Amino acid sequence: MTDTTKREIVCSGIRPTGNIHLGNYFGALRNFVRMQDEHDCFFFVADYHSLTTHPTPDDLYGNARQILIQYIACGLDPDKATIYLQSDLPETIELYLFLNMNAYLGELERVTSFKDKVRQNPNNVNAGLLTYPTLMAADILIHKATKVPVGKDQEQHLEMTRTFAQRFNNMYKHEVFPLPQAYNFGHDLIKIPGLDGSGKMGKSEGEGNAIFLNEDPKSIRKKIMRAKTDSGPTEMSQTKPVEIENLFTLMKVVSSPDTVEYFDDLYNRCQIRYGDMKKQLAEDMVNFCEPFRLKIEELSSNEDYLRRVMDQGKEKARESARKTIEEVRHVIGYRN
Ligand code: TYM
Repeated sequence: MTDTTKREIVCSGIRPTGNIHLGNYFGALRNFVRMQDEHDCFFFVADYHSLTTHPTPDDLYGNARQILIQYIACGLDPDKATIYLQSDLPETIELYLFLNMNAYLGELERVTSFKDKVRQNPNNVNAGLLTYPTLMAADILIHKATKVPVGKDQEQHLEMTRTFAQRFNNMYKHEVFPLPQAYNFGHDLIKIPGLDGSGKMGKSEGEGNAIFLNEDPKSIRKKIMRAKTDSGPTEMSQTKPVEIENLFTLMKVVSSPDTVEYFDDLYNRCQIRYGDMKKQLAEDMVNFCEPFRLKIEELSSNEDYLRRVMDQGKEKARESARKTIEEVRHVIGYRN
């Protein structure tokens, strides 16, 4: 008997602007893996989006391939989820064009990530950067996805996706698109902090801020031992300053609850030695990353397999995208 229950559609992506770090893993990829059994999943490598900030990469395909390897090394199964390169799905670009016709300069200029990028790189304020949220909406809406596993920093982009979807439905008087939600298994969206005492772990936040899944143990230990701390608590149970809170947050994701409790207790009694805490965190981090690193290494040389995964993903993604784009063209009024 065929299963007629309709599964929810899930879609998300990661830009190939560097290796996958703990923020990408806990904010997004871990949920991709958890969702692939129960949902119809589309996970892609956002290699169009990467050009907004890296217009002339040295090895665009190599970078995208690396993210694909890391997806699989983390447990994504190409027979369960559709895994593909964004650039293999040109239907996305057609939808991007239609959504851009109804996206307004004012709302695009107000997006926090756009304002940040303008501040960081005032010499490269390109139109792709401005319309980043419409391309992202096109990625999601091309499959009519309803759940989008992402970290906290993508929340505003999801809000915009809903705005564009609703506006399209209203303008053309058809319920073409559902309104997708950012998703994290019934929990709040998360933000993994960096090691430099600043807010967020990121690929472009500077050397030493991020821990990558394929990082070697020596380098992980070095980064953690150098992480910013202060001179220690002076009052019992005092509030932790940001850089210390960050270390505890990292410990919560890779260490056992007992370990976290042990150091928390020492902190509250003003007896913590940050060197000991960092040593423990470094060992737990190495143990967490090492299986991923080994798997990534193993997959890296298997070009035939990776090509097959990309081809299979491309075919499945295009099948889904073509249906949507046909409907969209029809609703707008183009020739069938
Ligand atoms: P990107 O490549 O910056 O990040 C990929 C995913 O990792 C999450 N993330 C984090 N989560 C928690 N803590 C952190 N420190 C942290 N750093 C990154 C991001 O929230 C994201 O989920 N615009 C997206 C790529 C994209 C996309 C899409 C996502 C393009 N089209 C459609 C979803 C749906 C981005 O720049 O991700």
